[in-house]
Amino acid sequence: MQWDKTQLKKTIRKVIGEKLLVIASNREPYIHTYREGKIEYIRPVGGAVTALDPVMRVCKGTWVAYGNGNADKAVVNSKNEIKVPPEKPCYKLRRIWLTKDEENGYYYGYSNKGLWPLCHMTYTRPQFDDVDWAYYKIVNQKFANTILGIVKNRKAFVWIQDYHLFLLSKLLKEKAKNIVTAHFLHIPWPNPESFRICPQKQEILEGLLSNNLLGFHIRYHCGNFMESVRSELEARIDLERTSVTYGGHETVVRAFPISVDFDEISASSESKAVTSAMKKLKYEFSITDDTFVMVGLDRIDYTKGIIEKISAIDRFFEKFPEYKKKVVFIQKGGLSRMHIDKYRELNDKLNNQVEEVNWKHSTENWAPVIFIRKHMSRDEIIALYKIADACLVSPLHDGMNLVCKEFIAAKNDLKGILILSQFTGAARELNDAIFVNPYDREKFAIAIKEAVELPQDEIERRMKNLRNVVRDNNIYKWAGKFLEELKKI
Ligand code: G6P
Repeated sequence: MQWDKTQLKKTIRKVIGEKLLVIASNREPYIHTYREGKIEYIRPVGGAVTALDPVMRVCKGTWVAYGNGNADKAVVNSKNEIKVPPEKPCYKLRRIWLTKDEENGYYYGYSNKGLWPLCHMTYTRPQFDDVDWAYYKIVNQKFANTILGIVKNRKAFVWIQDYHLFLLSKLLKEKAKNIVTAHFLHIPWPNPESFRICPQKQEILEGLLSNNLLGFHIRYHCGNFMESVRSELEARIDLERTSVTYGGHETVVRAFPISVDFDEISASSESKAVTSAMKKLKYEFSITDDTFVMVGLDRIDYTKGIIEKISAIDRFFEKFPEYKKKVVFIQKGGLSRMHIDKYRELNDKLNNQVEEVNWKHSTENWAPVIFIRKHMSRDEIIALYKIADACLVSPLHDGMNLVCKEFIAAKNDLKGILILSQFTGAARELNDAIFVNPYDREKFAIAIKEAVELPQDEIERRMKNLRNVVRDNNIYKWAGKFLEELKKI
């Protein structure tokens, strides 16, 4: 069956019916900011928001998230709500305000200095701080209070997202019997040996095991979670049902590989706005028809393997200098979590690296790496995918990675090859990519050469297969399957 908006609507009616639907995440789908005296909005980059906004457009309901834009307060009503998407409002965004200390402790501290490196296992040491943990609890409670206020005594389904809200389900269930909760984790779950160092591991597991359904991207993460529970708690694990019973309550654990709105991206890639953005990009970066363009799009994050990618490009030009002036790599890098040392250090390191690599290989009017730092609109991003002959996605570890799926959805003309890290969740589905180990510079450089030299018919064959996979396993299927599982429970 081909999943689409209509199919998802039907499933929602069956599963949710009259119940209230509430999504909770840290990051909001639209951020309002002041620019030159006017209020603008941006869509933040990041997998969770990219995937869930199309789902909410169909499901309606209320999305509860932290309002961090400097104009966010100016546009909400007295209930701190605003209808979004701004261009065609159809669901409610309920904003939660945090103090500086809360943001610092809960978001920068516990979530991103502690849990993020703990779950990704990319050799960045997690830092757990008691004060951060206290704020993590306070903010989870703040989310719970807001949601309880929205739900009151109605029946509701609360769909919790990601590692910022591990305690939320338990806090809700303690107060309300009329709420069903499910939690989806957008990042990997670590193996038990890595997880066991977390000082708050018991509270975190207990928080998650308050949910009725717990979703991960891939089966491997489900397995890691069940093993972590086995090591840390006295719980009954049913491998056949893949469920955990703890304190008399059963949580079903399942894999749901997240995806993108294939049809929407594919249709936008034919729009006039995208065609004109492509022209502008080509002009701005002096790209001619015979330039082989490689692109990368990442938040500047140490898990994304951007340093490793540029290092492989450096090696590629060292080994195969005949490709100088013929191949160019455009990396879009969005600043992220800049109040954390590791992120600032990475940003500085990247600046130096790009400078060095360009200095080493550049000729009079060509440099191998173009680093784009400015915010790009959705149309510009799709235009970037469209001008690319290859997309380089090289995380050191990633729960899924949606950049590669967006690239595939934008490639209606089949003219593009995907180079993909074997350490992404997406690697399990996208068999027609060229796979790399981002830690292996030499082989990565050779893979780039392979991509550049791939015959056109082979590129098209691979892209056709990749598109079939992403079209069939789109975001509506992800949401539909999740809800169907909930219905079974
Ligand atoms: C990952 C996380 C998301 C997060 C995104 C962007 O994809 O799973 O929850 O929103 O990164 O990070 P940020 O800290 O900017 O929200």
